[in-house]
Amino acid sequence: MDASKRWPVWPKAVGRPLDPTLQSLKDVLDGLAVLHEDPFIRDVRDTILRFPDANVGVALNKKQTACKKWAVEELCRAGVGRLETVHVLAGWYGLLGAMLLNEPRLGIAHLTVVDVNPDCEPVALSLNATPAAEGRFAFRQHDILALDYAAPPPGLDRPDLIVNTSCEHLADFSDWFAGLPSGQLVLLQSNDYRAIPEHVNCVDSLAAFQEQAPLADPLYAGELRLDKYTRFMLIGRK
Ligand SMILES: C[S@@+](CC[C@H](N)C(=O)[O-])C[C@H]1O[C@@H](n2cnc3c(N)ncnc32)[C@H](O)[C@@H]1O
Repeated sequence: MDASKRWPVWPKAVGRPLDPTLQSLKDVLDGLAVLHEDPFIRDVRDTILRFPDANVGVALNKKQTACKKWAVEELCRAGVGRLETVHVLAGWYGLLGAMLLNEPRLGIAHLTVVDVNPDCEPVALSLNATPAAEGRFAFRQHDILALDYAAPPPGLDRPDLIVNTSCEHLADFSDWFAGLPSGQLVLLQSNDYRAIPEHVNCVDSLAAFQEQAPLADPLYAGELRLDKYTRFMLIGRK
C-alpha cells in the first residue's frame, strides 16, 4: 500500500532544491505531520516553504502559541458551548484561527480572519489550507476600526464570538470597543509590552484592561506572565 494512502496527511514532494537548514526543518515537519497524522503540521510546513520571507516563525514561536493555547483552553473552560461562527479580528497569519478550528469541544462551523494587511491573506489561507478546503475558513481584508458592527458588510454578519488578541495594536481601542453590539461574546487579549513601536495601546494591569473593556457578563479574566511581558485576557459578553 502507498504510504500516502495509508496516511492521507502525507506531505507532497517539494521539487526544488532547498538550503540545508530549510531542508532539515521541512524533513522534521514532514515526519511530525505523519507521526501525529496532523494536517495542521503539514499546513505549517507548506506555509514555511511557500512564504520564506513571511517570518512564520515569529507568528508560531512559543510565546505566540502559548498565548493562543491559553485562549483556547480558557474559552473551553468558560462553558461557552458550541460556536457556529467566529471572527478573529486583526488575526494576522491565522494561527489562532487554526487552533480554534482544531478544537472539537468548540465545534466551530466557520471562522473568518479579518486583517487590514493584504499580505496576511495568502499566508493565513495557507496556514489554514485544510479548514479552507472544507469551507470552514475565510480571510477578509478590512480595517477593523472602520467596520460597522451594527450593520456589518456581507459575509461579516454578527458572529457567535468575536476574538481580538491584538488590542495592544489599536490606538482607537475605546471607539472600537464601543462599536461592538451589547451582549456580543468576546475574547480579548492585550499586554504591557511597550518596547514594540506598533503597541500603541498597552495596558499595565488586568484591572486597567478591564476598565478599558468593561464586560456586562464576565466569564474569565486572567494574566499570563512571559519572559519579557505579561499578557492579559478577558472573555465574556459585552
Ligand atoms: C503582530 S500582529 C498580532 C499580534 C497579537 N499579539 C496576536 O498574535 O494576536 C497584529 C496584527 O494586527 C493587524 N492590525 C493592526 N491594526 C489593524 C486594524 N485597524 N484593522 C485590522 N487589522 C489590524 C496587523 O495587520 C497585524 O496583522
